[in-house]
Amino acid sequence: MAKDLTFSCSDCGATTSKWSGRCDSCGAWNTIAEDKPLSSGPKSKSLGSKRGRELTLTDLATQEAAPPRTQAGVEELDRVLGGGLVAASAILVGGDPGIGKSTLLLQAAARFARNGLNVIYVTGEESTSQVQMRARRLGLEQSPVKLVSETNLRDILTTLDAQKPDLVIIDSVQTMWSDTVDSAPGSVSQVRTAAHELTTFAKTRGIAVILVGHVTKEGAIAGPRVVEHMVDCVLYFEGERGHQFRILRAVKNRFGPADEIGVFEMTGKGLAEVKNPSALFLSQRGTPSPGSVVFAGIEGTRPLLCEIQALVAPAAPGTARRSVVGWDAARLNMILAVLDSRCGISFTGLDVYLNVAGGMRISEPAADLAVAAALVSAREDATLPETCVILGEISLSGALRPVAQMENRLKEAQKLGFSEAIMPPLAKRAADTGLALREIRDLATFVSDVFGLDPGT
Ligand code: TYD
Ligand code: MG
Repeated sequence: MAKDLTFSCSDCGATTSKWSGRCDSCGAWNTIAEDKPLSSGPKSKSLGSKRGRELTLTDLATQEAAPPRTQAGVEELDRVLGGGLVAASAILVGGDPGIGKSTLLLQAAARFARNGLNVIYVTGEESTSQVQMRARRLGLEQSPVKLVSETNLRDILTTLDAQKPDLVIIDSVQTMWSDTVDSAPGSVSQVRTAAHELTTFAKTRGIAVILVGHVTKEGAIAGPRVVEHMVDCVLYFEGERGHQFRILRAVKNRFGPADEIGVFEMTGKGLAEVKNPSALFLSQRGTPSPGSVVFAGIEGTRPLLCEIQALVAPAAPGTARRSVVGWDAARLNMILAVLDSRCGISFTGLDVYLNVAGGMRISEPAADLAVAAALVSAREDATLPETCVILGEISLSGALRPVAQMENRLKEAQKLGFSEAIMPPLAKRAADTGLALREIRDLATFVSDVFGLDPGT
């Protein structure tokens, strides 16, 4: 039988059956390498030839209590974790270099240590003195966190076995290497082995493990995606470098809701939690201007108001630009097409810039109408009322569709001093939120009611 060779890309983790100089998936050069099999069991023998042990089956009912959780006492972090740190769980924290992962985790380590956990912080990227200096800057020198600078997995596991911590932080998984795998640290097989060894070790000993992972240019956690499958919880730490806001987002959580976010602010003394992010995102709004619209959004279970800004300018012939920060570019094109074909508002020959203020990133379709409003407002040079929020999903027919958690959104808007909401018709009457509700059925009615534009002009 021919030997089954597989190759994978060390950048994106894609697997192929033959070697090539360039990865077909991500286009990176010189990143394809042969995968070494993880175990060297007898491969050619059929499994049926030797009987295994019969497994004991169980049913779905359980007598076990919910897993014990430890709170950090930082509400923004505890909520993203689904209510605190679960013992014997594995968490992956991804993010761009320099975004503040090490700062976040050092602060979290100190909080968990203060709340009674035995915490070890393993750094593979910095020296102990660098981490100590950061701890001094954060005012955490006296915290009972144990620190070690090491990248050798075997030594780390031996140390963990002897120290028996409750929580271990590995910063970062890309720097760890195992002597059982003969490829360079950071390669797919090393990262996969390190993540596998650490998570299984942690699970069998009841230790919670937090792995830090770097993110590639394309935004995926560098190395194989399989690391994401191995862990219980995947958190992304994101934000714009020039802004002080940082958002910790749960994209997978086996012990709580995904999509939950925590908002932090990077200060000179580390990360501070932001208890009322809507107020913060809107605080820099200034006087209302054309192209600026406030969207009443939801992130996880929490309402979040933010400003959507659009700018429309004449384009040089044949080079109309569509530039988006904080939203989906494909979705912008869809809205431009719906505005054109259903309302006769064309952006041909115009550059369009769309930005979500404050470095926030929105993925909800509920922002469609706010985006359309910002675009039309910018194109017509018409300002919307300052105390008005806009929300609603736009379908390809131009109809406005209702969005989830309406009441939550409206309450938040009312709390922040808004007095009017423009939105799709409600399926059922919401409790009175004190807001004047303008329910609009389709996009053409919206542009004529709000901007006084006749469809077709
Ligand atoms: P760091 O946590 O090292 O990022 P990562 O581990 O994700 O690579 O910190 C990144 C940046 O944060 C660094 O450029 C300096 C800044 N910073 C502050 O602004 N205030 C602080 O208190 C600390 C510790 C860092
Ligand atoms: Mg770091």
